[in-house]
Amino acid sequence: MAREAFELDFARFDFFNGAVALSKPMGFSDLENEQKALSELRTRHLGKKSALASAKKLIGGVAPDDRPSFARLVQTTEGAIRQSIDEVEKALKEHIDAARTARESIDVTIPGRRPRPGHLHPITLMRQRIEDIFVSLGYIVEDDREIETDFYNFDALNIPEGHPARDPQDTFYTTEGFALRSQTSTVQIHAMQRRGAPVRMIAPGRVFRRDTPDPTHNPMFYQVEGLCVDRGITMAHLKGTLAEFVHRLFGPDTRTRFRPSYFPFTEPSAEVDYSCFNCGGTGCRICKQSGWIELGGSGMVHPNVLRAANVDPEKFTGFAFGLGIDRTCARIYQLDDIRLLFENDVRFLEQFRSFQHSGIRSLEFT
Ligand code: FA5
Repeated sequence: MAREAFELDFARFDFFNGAVALSKPMGFSDLENEQKALSELRTRHLGKKSALASAKKLIGGVAPDDRPSFARLVQTTEGAIRQSIDEVEKALKEHIDAARTARESIDVTIPGRRPRPGHLHPITLMRQRIEDIFVSLGYIVEDDREIETDFYNFDALNIPEGHPARDPQDTFYTTEGFALRSQTSTVQIHAMQRRGAPVRMIAPGRVFRRDTPDPTHNPMFYQVEGLCVDRGITMAHLKGTLAEFVHRLFGPDTRTRFRPSYFPFTEPSAEVDYSCFNCGGTGCRICKQSGWIELGGSGMVHPNVLRAANVDPEKFTGFAFGLGIDRTCARIYQLDDIRLLFENDVRFLEQFRSFQHSGIRSLEFT
């Protein structure tokens, strides 16, 4: 009886008897569950409460003639059960060891995961290109704060009280009354205060305006400021510098055009355009058929600005300019909307892997 009950219960472990290789692959945790089940089976059939243990207790009560054969039967049954369980237990342990080794081993022949290297943002590529050109012309690169007092954002730049630029509808203010700079021209003042004159610097950076977003406007965008102050600086130096800049950026045939304009911090002031890098000035989709593309604002530094930065306007003159990096970048890459540059869509950004150092022809997508 005890033997039959055991055989029935044990049948499921036949599977493990003998060979180490399993006909059906089993995971590590499945094998551990089997090991636990086997241990329970051992208790059930060999433990204190097993049928075999009860049979042992009966031996003393069996008639003396039958006692030896009954005792032998109990003993051989116990031996057989124990042996079967021991064999399966050993086989199971080997399977578990093999599964553990397989789980922990590394297949060095599996191809590695390819790293996806990132790359610089198109605006950063554009900024670095601009920096390279001006550094090679002897300019230093200044970095400065984005949150300003009214003095740097307006007063020192000769923007009078009541000027529309000071209106909270145009400028972002913090609750403490500081302004987010609305142009990089603030760095002109910091640079002159820090370095005195003569000075030649560019200052790329973020600026903020309460402009409604549209294809050519963002409330946050990048400008690069330029400032050159020395003895005897004239408008001719300004024109020559920006002409050289566009030659290096877009190619030697690029022309510049200066249109009279007004900025409180320069006098005279001019808007600067360059001839379209795509059509050379005959008119195309990129320049909207005009042949010209706007670069930014410029002019001769107003004497009040020099004074605000403790530079003597009797001794020094200077020119300044401010270019929009985002719009220039959008023109070069033929983007219809500058907001694309800030959406951080990787599928879009991945197209701008390189901006090599040899003019506009190398600006193509990779
Ligand atoms: C200025 O900001 C002057 N500070 C430039 C300057 C500097 C003049 C030094 C004289 C001397 P303006 O507001 O035109 O100028 O802006 C300059 C450039 O910034 C524009 O040509 C344009 O390219 C870019 N820009 C202006 N507003 C936005 C905007 N909302 N989004 C993206 N680009 C803009």
